[in-house]
Amino acid sequence: MPKLNENYLNLTENYLFSEIAHRVNTYTKANPDKKVIRLGIGDVTLPLGSEVITQLHEGVNDLASVQTFKGYGPEQGYAFLREAITNYYQKNGISICADEVFISDGAKSDTGNITDLFDKDNIVLIPDPVYPVYVDTNMMDARKIIYMDATVENHFLPMPDPYIHADLIYLCSPNNPTGAAYTCEQLKEWVSYALENHAIILYDSAYECFITDKTLPRSIFAIEQAKKCAIEFCSLSKTAGFTGTRCGYTIVPKELNFPSSDGRNLSLNTMWKRRQTTKFNGVSYIIQRGAAAVFSAKGLAQCEENIKYYQENAKMISIELEKKGFRYFGGVNSPYIWFECPNQMDSWDFFDYLLNNAQIVGTPGAGFGKNGQRFFRLTSFNTHENTIEAMKRMDNLF
Ligand code: MLT
Repeated sequence: MPKLNENYLNLTENYLFSEIAHRVNTYTKANPDKKVIRLGIGDVTLPLGSEVITQLHEGVNDLASVQTFKGYGPEQGYAFLREAITNYYQKNGISICADEVFISDGAKSDTGNITDLFDKDNIVLIPDPVYPVYVDTNMMDARKIIYMDATVENHFLPMPDPYIHADLIYLCSPNNPTGAAYTCEQLKEWVSYALENHAIILYDSAYECFITDKTLPRSIFAIEQAKKCAIEFCSLSKTAGFTGTRCGYTIVPKELNFPSSDGRNLSLNTMWKRRQTTKFNGVSYIIQRGAAAVFSAKGLAQCEENIKYYQENAKMISIELEKKGFRYFGGVNSPYIWFECPNQMDSWDFFDYLLNNAQIVGTPGAGFGKNGQRFFRLTSFNTHENTIEAMKRMDNLF
């Protein structure tokens, strides 16, 4: 009989967004005549930009002829896409080598898969509330997790505690779910802490394209010495509407070297390459053609248009919450608006209340950790029409 990974017994029965989908499906089956508006999972609604679509078609055409056909591609991604990404960083003054970039099917997979590189015997520092993937994947391996409270008092941006040692640190900025974003000064402190503790920062920058405040860093590598202590995960899901298309990237700097127990040098870049070539066959050529178009001047301009559209939704949601006297956060450098449930309500109760009385789906803060118990998250990724309609319903309800 196989011995199963019983750490799974410590996880909640369903992944957060599967649980929400399940509850919403039950509701819509029982109420087929009601129009539900989904402001829950951060799934985009606008179509891909025309530049991306053109290149996806070109990718398909390439597969139709012997001269340009592609079979297996490089597991770490085609050079044309890795170079497009390094140029994108260069425009923001950050120098990355193409062989430090690994193309993935999204930040969710890689923030989970990266745990393959680390022994179970590591102390992991994770903010609370947080994107549940970081917690769940470390629980699957039974690593020791220390939670850092992200609260109204610290503006949802926990800072290092010199009395606590950690080996791995998860940071997400702009933050999912709170929408808070670290400043350069704050990230400098995290980099110093990581260097002092010989720790690694696992930095999720999936929402960097929503940063409007030009003084805020869009990458951990904007901070000096970060290449000695950080890995960055990014995604085209929110930047370019690739939630269904699937493409992202992970940057593992070559400076990330640690001694093995027998004194040899272990390079995380080499280890990740070894891991990917063994367990991953890469993202399809067609999708990588489309992804490269995101980083062209035209492609970036089209992405910016879509981001502006979602930012307008965020504004509409903020205005309504303000009007009704909710205490809310985020929505400026982030597509998410995080607010306190009315009357100290529990966030799952509020989820049910909003679904039953206004047919609006949001995300209960409790799904992101204990500090989210009395908070709720709305996303700006729906259409203008649906966002306006949802806010009208909120207006009538409260
Ligand atoms: C979210 O809603 O938190 C995100 O869309 C989830 C994800 O990107 O996996």
